[in-house]
Amino acid sequence: MKKLLALLIAMVMVFGLVACGGGKEDTSKESEAEEVADDTTEEVADDSAEEDADEPADEPAEGGKTYKIGVTIYQYSDNFMTLYRNELEKYFGELGEADGNTYEVEFQDGKNDQNTQNDQLNNFIAQKKDLIIANLVETTGADQFLKDAQEANIPVVLINREPKEISTMEIWPGKTTYVGVDARQSGIYQGEIIADTPNKGDINGDGVVNYIMIMGDAGNVDAEQRTEFSVKTLEKSIKTEILGEAQRGNWDQTKGQEITANALTQYGDQVEVVFSNNDGMAMGAMQAIEGAGRVVNEDIYLVGVDALPEVVEAIGEGKFTGTVLNDHFNQSHTAAEIAVKLLNGEDVEPYYWHDYVKVTKAEDSELSRKDWRAESIEEYQARLAEYED
Ligand code: GAL
Repeated sequence: MKKLLALLIAMVMVFGLVACGGGKEDTSKESEAEEVADDTTEEVADDSAEEDADEPADEPAEGGKTYKIGVTIYQYSDNFMTLYRNELEKYFGELGEADGNTYEVEFQDGKNDQNTQNDQLNNFIAQKKDLIIANLVETTGADQFLKDAQEANIPVVLINREPKEISTMEIWPGKTTYVGVDARQSGIYQGEIIADTPNKGDINGDGVVNYIMIMGDAGNVDAEQRTEFSVKTLEKSIKTEILGEAQRGNWDQTKGQEITANALTQYGDQVEVVFSNNDGMAMGAMQAIEGAGRVVNEDIYLVGVDALPEVVEAIGEGKFTGTVLNDHFNQSHTAAEIAVKLLNGEDVEPYYWHDYVKVTKAEDSELSRKDWRAESIEEYQARLAEYED
């Protein structure tokens, strides 16, 4: 993972990761998460010192406590969630080294099947885990599990797949939380990346950008909002028209390849832009584009989300127009730090947000992150409102 981080950092420097506005300090959502992160780290250190002095440990491990954490990931074969999972595991290890506690983290593969995942969640409850981290298969199906967890007195940190109703659901106040990113922001960045190309995506100069859209799974907030906001954003600069209908590749590279190959056969040179809800599917699109003898950034544009290391590399080689970093480092770190807070018996907020970051080969552009960034929550909401009908 160090290699990965180093690669991303190198890419930031070499290709001008468009992270203007400084990011961390100026966003209400992010600074919330950062603050918690900072607080947590301090508190973790303080608490462990106190515990060492006053309390006998449950199960001594270098003077600390042992906590049992159950994590279920919606699908191990998902490449972004693999980065996330590995980082989460590694970071719990680091937190334990720092605070003297032992975080026994059990990971399970939900195999993209809610029944399988329900069994895992029920097992975690039966095993009396101290905390559960859930990356739900079906984001609409969280109610029963959350009730059961509350009954068993087990706090829950939800990650990555945002339950639509968390704001209206009867959640256990202070003990249920979601850590993630605002999917609208990633869609806006995708639209901006295309709007920022020399011809705004209009390769043939007819005043209309013809595009195809490759989507994630049905009912997924990321899939819906990236689809909507990428196009809405590009529409602010130029007219757009979809070729055929948006198609579901369910985050999968092979499906992204098939969808793009079919579209290129059917529509040929008409395809000017390929929008993909994630990099996995966009990598498939890249293969199809190469297979059809088309050249990215010359006669077609391609944009994804996640900033997988291989995609950041492809951007450097000019095989990809751009992507948007789905910051699994900060998201997984916040999830772990919030978990530690909960394990310490503290209450937490219902949501913790991080930022996406635009990744292109270009230098800083006018349509940059600082346009999205805001000094206050009011400004941030006003910016969002521009995109709401
Ligand atoms: C998104 C990510 C996708 C996929 C999806 C799973 O945030 O961009 O690559 O991992 O989550 O729900």
